[in-house]
Formats: sequence, C-alpha cells, structure tokens
Amino acid sequence: MASAIRGAFLSYTGNPFKEAVAGSFYYESDGLIVIDEGKISYAGVYDAGRVPAGVIPEHYRDALIVPGFIDAHVHYPQTPMIGAYGKQLLDWLNKYTFVTEQRYHDKDFARGIAKVFLREQLKAGVTTPITYCTVHPESVDAYFEEAESLGLRTGAGKVLMDRHAPEALLDTAQTGYDESKALAEKWHGRGRFFYVVTPRFAPTSTPEQLEAAGALYQEISGVYMQTHLSENTKEIAWVAELFPGTHGYLDVYDRYGLVGPRTLFGHAVHLTDPEWKRMAEAGATIVHCPTSNLFLGSGLFNLERALVSSNPVRTALGSDLGAGTSFSPLVTLNEAYKIAQLRGYSLSAHHAFYLATLGSARAIYQDQHIGSIEAGKDADLAVLDFKATPILADRQAFSASLEEQLFVLMTLGDERVIKATYAAGRKVYERTG
Ligand code: GUN
Ligand code: ZN
Repeated sequence: MASAIRGAFLSYTGNPFKEAVAGSFYYESDGLIVIDEGKISYAGVYDAGRVPAGVIPEHYRDALIVPGFIDAHVHYPQTPMIGAYGKQLLDWLNKYTFVTEQRYHDKDFARGIAKVFLREQLKAGVTTPITYCTVHPESVDAYFEEAESLGLRTGAGKVLMDRHAPEALLDTAQTGYDESKALAEKWHGRGRFFYVVTPRFAPTSTPEQLEAAGALYQEISGVYMQTHLSENTKEIAWVAELFPGTHGYLDVYDRYGLVGPRTLFGHAVHLTDPEWKRMAEAGATIVHCPTSNLFLGSGLFNLERALVSSNPVRTALGSDLGAGTSFSPLVTLNEAYKIAQLRGYSLSAHHAFYLATLGSARAIYQDQHIGSIEAGKDADLAVLDFKATPILADRQAFSASLEEQLFVLMTLGDERVIKATYAAGRKVYERTG
C-alpha cells in the first residue's frame, strides 16, 4: 500500500566538508515524498500527478522533513541512570554503570527499558540507533524484539567483558564468542537489523577475548564491531599498563583484527597522529559523542581534524547515553558546535545537519539504505517543526535563510521540535499538542 507526505524537505547529496555548501544539498520548499513497501519511490517537487491513486498525502506546513537521524553510539541499558552525578569515566563505570547493568539478566526488565529507550529515540527523531546491550544475551533479544515491532533499521550487540568488572557481569572468551555467534545468527540480516560484535573496551577484555571478538568480526559477513577508544586520559594510561608492548590504544584493537570497515569507535578524544592516520587508512569509524564528553569531563574532540583535514576519518554522531545527556540529535549538534568552538573551529548548520544524516550514514556504511531522501532509500524520516516552542516561533520570525533556521533549531531545539517520525514509511511517533 503506497502512501505520501507533502511538505518542505532537506536532503544532502554531497559532502559540505569537502565541497561548496551550496551544491551539497537538495531543498524542496513544496515537496512530495511517495512511499511504497517501506521505501521512497519518488522525492521531488509536489506534483499532484505523482500522488498514487486513492492516496491523500499527509501535509506538513511550517515544517521541514529530513532523513531520520542516526545515533551511532548509545547504551540502551543505561537509560535508567542518565544524569548520574560523579567523577570521570572509570569511577562512573564502577559506581553506576556496572551496578545498573546487572539487572539485565531479567528479560522482562530489559524489555521494559528497551521500550522506553526506543520511545525516546523516536521522539527525538532517531530512526537508526546503534546500541550496546549488556553482557546478558537476554538484553539483546529483548532489544531486537522491541525494535522489530517498530520495523527499525538498527544495530546492537551483547557486551563482551571477561575481566575488571563485577563477577555477575563477566563472560569468558569462549562463552562470549558462542553467545555472540548465536545472537548474530538469529538477528543479523533479519528485517533491517545488523549485529554488532561488542567488546566493551580493552580494559574489560583479556587478550583471548579480543582475539575471539576479532574472529567474530572476520567470520560473519557484514557484521559490525563497536567499542570505546581513547575517551579519557586515565583510561589510556590503564590500557598501556594492561597491554605492554603495544603502540598505543588503537594498536591493541588492531592486533586482534578489530580495526577496519564497519568498526565503530566511540569517542577518540585523545588520538595520536599515527592513530588518526591508521583510522583513515583502515576505513574505521569514529563516533563523536559531545554531550557525553562534556558530562564526564573527557575532553574536546577534534572535529576539524576528523572531517576537514586532507586525510579525513569517517565520523558519525552519537549520544552515548547514559553518559550522554540527551536523546535529541539537535542537542548533540548544539554541544558539538560548542566543543568545536573551544577548539577554534565553527560548525555551520549545513555541516551539522549533514553530519547527523548522510554524513553519519556514510560513516557507518549504511548510506545505500538511509541518510537521504531519494528514490530507492528507506522511508525513515523526521518532521521538524520550526515553531515548536514559543521562543522558537518568535526567533524564527527573524531568520533570514534556511541556514539560519537550521542553526536556530540546533541551538534552541530538542525533542519538542519533532512533530513526527517515520520508519519504513510507517508513522511510529507523532507529537501530541
Ligand atoms: N567505556 C567503557 N564503557 C563505557 C560506557 O559504558 N560509557 C562510556 N561513556 N565509556 C565507556
Ligand atoms: Zn559508550
């Protein structure tokens, strides 16, 4: 059954970090998006002749339709501990994270949190979350089962941890391998799902476990890998102690075959020059998590080095909840802008919206499916309301261009801006009021 949406839409076609901004996007002030079998079959100027027979397009006024956002690094199990007060990464993990995550052996508990998490992601306009689960296979089943009922394109994986965490959260190199393999066989490629091999970070895995993770990543066709990298200076020093003889943090993962296409590294705040080069050469991906980096006092990510330099690294955006503090990619962009400001680089609105849509889709090797509004792509969309709040309405009255409107949205906006969210053409969220 076909359907259609009418309204202004914005979709990137190029890369504003590499070419003139003006030629890098397609904006249609009165657009029509026709959807068939979950995919876009037409996206262009409104033309009554292109509306399928019997279909009345849903018409959004004072709004802007954009591709659904991507949250490329997030921990759904940490939803109940967002805003945990304290020190930096390692204390925060021990004091809050490793306590909360012990509850996920209970599948009903996991399901309840997955529901809340997905509700909030859709409410924020995110249609593709890539999430860590916990060490418990039940936490992965609960997540994918909930995502299946919404028809999302999403990735997730069981956390691998066989040391330096409470006993109740540990697997072994062998059980972690076996359970991950069974979960990947069950979920990878089912619907729009992809499995993500998930060693939490080097300190909580023995060399044997990292080797097993490397084997999984190499053995299962198209599987992803996610972990944390160089988030915090104490963490980096600990990795150097735990893995003597390696040449830095990234080299630890590299030794176990964990650096390549579809490997997603959260943070990368403190990379060395050889590490930047290696990431670029390997086609590996950084996920920049600005609200988390500020909340945990981790440091200021070098977005300019990542994207504007002559040797760029694939870079996506993530919330990293529960260390991150907002589900909303608009808030994430706002904080990304401020971090860049502190490093002397200004992130324009078009660069920012590119990064949250096609830029992230490209960075995570999913741009054949998502990230832009064009025929053939999945109909994953977010409808943004320029006048979502009284101050937005008042402020937008003074905006002189699309670029200014977008910048105001990412400065003053949050979940309230999202009027509706579509996944595979189905309306999965609609703001009331
Ligand atoms: N490093 C290892 N585990 C985590 C986590 O859960 N959150 C963050 N922000 N960093 C980590
Ligand atoms: Zn994280």
